[in-house]
Amino acid sequence: MKIKKDKLPIHIGFIMDGNGRWATRRGLPRKMGHKKGADVLEKIVDYCFEVGIKYVTCFAFSTENWKRPQEEIDYIFGLLRDYIKKQNEKNASSGNNELKQRNIKICVLGDISKIPEDLQKELEKIEKDTDNCDAFVLNIAMNYGGRDDIVNAVNTLIASGKTKVNEQDISNALYTKGMPDPDFIIRTAGDIRLSNFMLYQSAYAELYFTKTFWPDFSPKHLNKALNSYAKRNRKFGKLN
Ligand code: IPE
Ligand code: IPE
Ligand code: MG
Repeated sequence: MKIKKDKLPIHIGFIMDGNGRWATRRGLPRKMGHKKGADVLEKIVDYCFEVGIKYVTCFAFSTENWKRPQEEIDYIFGLLRDYIKKQNEKNASSGNNELKQRNIKICVLGDISKIPEDLQKELEKIEKDTDNCDAFVLNIAMNYGGRDDIVNAVNTLIASGKTKVNEQDISNALYTKGMPDPDFIIRTAGDIRLSNFMLYQSAYAELYFTKTFWPDFSPKHLNKALNSYAKRNRKFGKLN
């Protein structure tokens, strides 16, 4: 079923959970789940772009995920490095400029000063190269935490000399500055929590939880979620 454009979220956040359990259930190492999860992300992002969603935020690594074994952390960073490097190479070889050709902008949300330097450089490069693209925005939440986002915003405001702030000032100092808040947040793998994802921005987000593990999540599952969103009555405090 085709969903009417005005019933689609403008901004979707994905809490891509369940990679490890997906792998473990198959007797595979957890990293295989992350690998399949990265492939799924590319497909889901393409699908969002096709149907006309304007912003997608994927939660790739949280400020709490440093508590995992170093080997797993390195593997997750490696997957992101492979993807961004591939995109940067395509951007460099003119004519094969996939992201720019499709007018897709990449933004990184989170404090990347803590991640390996070569990956920081690749991320900074892709952000700079796609800065003028405006058909679609893919936010990669990397070393992202909703609380860190707010703390960082407050420190930015203090540094700018402000002694009193309003909600708009805070929004404008978050990693998502200039972007609309997420309308719809989807979490896979059955846990019903936000795990520090977009705490300020999610004030009026519609939430959707599915038991499907992220590596099994497909455009078909996303359509089901989008149909649920389309039927919801977003009241924002009003009577109807
Ligand atoms: C989500 O999958 C990916 C990241 C947190 C990076 P998990 O690795 O959390 O998978 P489970 O929850 O252990 O199954
Ligand atoms: C949330 O998943 C973070 C990401 C998807 C990157 P986690 O697996 O880290 O969340 P918890 O620990 O189950 O709350
Ligand atoms: Mg998890």
